[in-house]
Amino acid sequence: MSTAYLNGDYKPLDDCQVSVLDRGFIFGDAVYELIPFYVQNAFRLEAHLKRLKRSLAEIGINNPHTDEQWQTIVERLIAQQDEANGSVYIQVTRGVARRDHAFPTDTSATVFVMLAAWPAAIEGALDKGLSVVTADDIRWNRCDVKSTSLLANVLMKQKALESDAHEAIMIREGKVLEGSATNTFIVYQGAILTAPKDHLILPGITRDVVVELIQALGLPFIEQAASLQQLQQADEVWLTSSTKECLAVTEVDGQPVADGRPGPLWRQVYDAFQLQK
Ligand code: PDD
Repeated sequence: MSTAYLNGDYKPLDDCQVSVLDRGFIFGDAVYELIPFYVQNAFRLEAHLKRLKRSLAEIGINNPHTDEQWQTIVERLIAQQDEANGSVYIQVTRGVARRDHAFPTDTSATVFVMLAAWPAAIEGALDKGLSVVTADDIRWNRCDVKSTSLLANVLMKQKALESDAHEAIMIREGKVLEGSATNTFIVYQGAILTAPKDHLILPGITRDVVVELIQALGLPFIEQAASLQQLQQADEVWLTSSTKECLAVTEVDGQPVADGRPGPLWRQVYDAFQLQK
């Protein structure tokens, strides 16, 4: 069983316990990060810690650790297991307190960090691509905060799986925003579109890597949310996340994307991504 970190102690995951009064459990009053590692090296750790700091500040939880302390915890957990690739999950809650919506005044944050195995490859993901369904974005207006309150995302993902699709892409006021746990890129009439980093999407670290690669490759790029119609008429659709990296989507709501095969721009970006790891 893997080692985890809870409030200052390293111990087996099964021995980690938190109170039922923890506000993460009671209210979903918590934020998280998921940091991939390759060949035992945390990928874009600085960017993940920066986003964690921002999420904490946005919901008024004092950051319990310095960057150096976070780095030590992450690297120590990675070193205590044998897998080359995987991910580290960090969760910080507002702590344990009598149930009351108002912030408690005398509670310290709960800090929990665990390792997760690299997810099994999705069969055919690279050759055939993924399928998605579209769904109304029923989330709150602070999707930029990486909150553990993920009920809407959970319901969207389940809707996708029950439709035999891999992911749900969320649409708000006719705009394509992101997936339930992924950012979205649309290639439409030769240009690559992705939603801007505002309060309606999670500012994905993989999204940033892919934008850097698009720019380095000199591909046409517009930071703008595609319309639902552009999604339906897209040349290519891609999903990005720390665990999916960058994958092509070849079916949207049961209809093929262009010729139904992963496209050439995706291939260029995918190949460039592999060199980053
Ligand atoms: N999810 N958008 C949403 C809503 C997400 O939950 C995620 C990541 C992303 C991609 O962000 P990044 O590239 O930083 O992983 C976009 C993670 C993987 C999760 O919840 O497990």
